[in-house]
Amino acid sequence: MADMAGNEDSEAGAASPALGIGMVGYAFMGATHSHAWRTVGHVFDLPMRPVMAAIGGRDADAVRAAAARHGWAAAETDWRALVDRDDVQLVDVCTPGDSHAEIAVAALEAGKHVLCEKPLANSVAEAEAMAAAAERAAARGQVAMVGFNYRRVPAVAYARRLIADGKVGTIRHVRVTYLQDWLVDPDFPLTWRLKREYAGSGALGDLGAHAVDLAQYLAGELLVGVSALTETFVRDRPELDGASSGLSGSGSARRGPVTVDDAALFTGRLTSGALASFEATRMASGRKNALRLEVNGERGSLAFDLERLNELSFHDHTESAESAGFRRILVTEPGHPYLEAWWPPGHALGYEHTFTHQARDLVVGIAEGAAPAPSFADGLQVQRVLAAVEESAEKNAVYTPVPS
Ligand SMILES: NC(=O)c1ccc[n+]([C@@H]2O[C@H](COP(=O)([O-])OP(=O)(O)OC[C@H]3O[C@@H](n4cnc5c(N)ncnc54)[C@H](O)[C@@H]3O)[C@@H](O)[C@H]2O)c1
Repeated sequence: MADMAGNEDSEAGAASPALGIGMVGYAFMGATHSHAWRTVGHVFDLPMRPVMAAIGGRDADAVRAAAARHGWAAAETDWRALVDRDDVQLVDVCTPGDSHAEIAVAALEAGKHVLCEKPLANSVAEAEAMAAAAERAAARGQVAMVGFNYRRVPAVAYARRLIADGKVGTIRHVRVTYLQDWLVDPDFPLTWRLKREYAGSGALGDLGAHAVDLAQYLAGELLVGVSALTETFVRDRPELDGASSGLSGSGSARRGPVTVDDAALFTGRLTSGALASFEATRMASGRKNALRLEVNGERGSLAFDLERLNELSFHDHTESAESAGFRRILVTEPGHPYLEAWWPPGHALGYEHTFTHQARDLVVGIAEGAAPAPSFADGLQVQRVLAAVEESAEKNAVYTPVPS
């Protein structure tokens, strides 16, 4: 029998056991995660069958409309009721950072698997509590994962494979810039992303968290210390007039204080002694979602640009200088990560596929009883880097160790 969203009959692999999903939050990330849950079982052969059991939000009409639009069988207006549902085995947290810890810890303690959006939390203390809850839950066979989805761009996962295979040799530099421009207008309203009590930090936690995770993932090593500058260029903005979603909202005549950074610049040292540099800003006019990565090693270099996400640039420094140079690899071959399930070579993928790949790895991890990276412990370590960046910036860029 199909439920009101048609879950039972329409999901692929009806013979495999069901995995009931309950998702909290239904705006930007709610839409991308819904897309992933709708899609993943139809593209990948999965050991379990994701069922979109329930979506949670606070406004009854809005959450019901979101359930109908995105294909969820039921709607709840209290996330606790969603966590307690017998048909929910995995809780997917797509709310702002101020509610991540409370929802994720409650879900883990209720015996559920958890996927939590990034950054893991708004503070190190919250992230520590979440990582501890995940560790206790792991002993009971539960899985917890943080949504650093850019690891799952096929070109990024392939870059990691090339680095692990020694193709760039000993790493000397990791360079990450993550640039957006939606705050250039000083009248852009005070959405939750601009308030410390909801977001924890600004560009740092929003964009810098991805940058830190990617640098460490690609290099296969951790940051041991950082030196940072942060700035809030526009210090007051129009109070929000009504609801906001993702990166949009409308403002009123009244203005209020911005309590997070607009931009964060920092350098860091990796375990091996390699140097890393980071730039995270929402003030780079003309840059929409410009996440750029470069790794330089003694045998070669890799470069990636999210705005051309099917491509990876690779320079093999062991080739003769006359013919060597960056070449463009089109990462759409069936042998590339995740591509075996998609389209013929050259038929490109997009932003939404990263969430589908994340859902795929999570379902496989749950079926196998092994948490896929990034774990909550990985999310906690990123949180410690973010805290060290803020501490360094307060001291005008004094080098600040990252506690291990
Ligand atoms: N992985 C990525 O690339 C990426 C991109 C954007 C946002 N994010 C993260 O996803 C999370 C959500 O961001 P967004 O852009 O979707 O925000 P959004 O403003 O578009 O949506 C937030 C949703 O959470 C709901 N919500 C807020 N507080 C709640 C509460 N206490 N209980 C229940 N529902 C609540 C809102 O009603 C809304 O549906 C944040 O942690 C953000 O950092 C990740």
